[in-house]
Amino acid sequence: MTRRRRIYEGKAKVLFEGPEPGTLVQYFKDDATAFNNQKKGVITGKGVLNNRISEYLMSRLSEIGVPTHFMRRLNMREQLVREVEIIPIEVVVRNVAAGSLSRRFGIPEGTPLPRSIIEYYYKSDELNDPMVSEEHITAFGWAAPQDLDDMVALSLRVNDYLSGLFLGIGLKLVDFKLEFGRLWENEEMRIVLADEISPDNCRLWDVKTNEKLDKDRFRQDLGRVEEAYQEVARRLGILPEG
Ligand code: C5P
Repeated sequence: MTRRRRIYEGKAKVLFEGPEPGTLVQYFKDDATAFNNQKKGVITGKGVLNNRISEYLMSRLSEIGVPTHFMRRLNMREQLVREVEIIPIEVVVRNVAAGSLSRRFGIPEGTPLPRSIIEYYYKSDELNDPMVSEEHITAFGWAAPQDLDDMVALSLRVNDYLSGLFLGIGLKLVDFKLEFGRLWENEEMRIVLADEISPDNCRLWDVKTNEKLDKDRFRQDLGRVEEAYQEVARRLGILPEG
């Protein structure tokens, strides 16, 4: 790896200065964390798989007109992305009860939801990513009402498209988390999908057996974590080279 400026290091990825102004290199690590850093580990090969899976999903979304920060994959662990101003809100879309929703409301995991539910969380490690409402987001200026409208519309399109895509390969898209950023082009700002879409931030269950093929295998010590990510990539038809 050539020497270059490290812009930001997160739990699972590092962002480096890109080759052109307005670009960044997104490097995928094998590190895994859960429960806001209380559980840490390494999932061998995860970075390579998530790089491929996220490339594939972002590319398909781009083809249906969802704007994303993704430009192209550079190698096994890196992709070139547009530099955006990250909006400090995580958008979670849920189709089936699981995880924190099941805990919060006492709804058994696996219960289908009457309709898709959108939740917002404020990105803050110190505060443990608290759940927030639209009121908080606009009152505190984290996103303008129009930004939020765009984020919701894009999230619902992503949910519709990815639910169908995964169903086609025998996977149920239970829930997922998206991040968005502001991108300026010719004095105009638009909201684009950022970060990654992978089994690190989606819950994916086998349609027939309900087997978990996502990061819950790490969170819940279910074992065979890398194999699960590999299986998602295999079903998408994009197993990594080498
Ligand atoms: O834990 P919870 O049930 O709220 O997670 C909902 C969805 O959002 C899951 O797919 C989980 O992987 C994802 N998520 C995430 N990053 C977080 C919190 C949740 O990717 N910080």
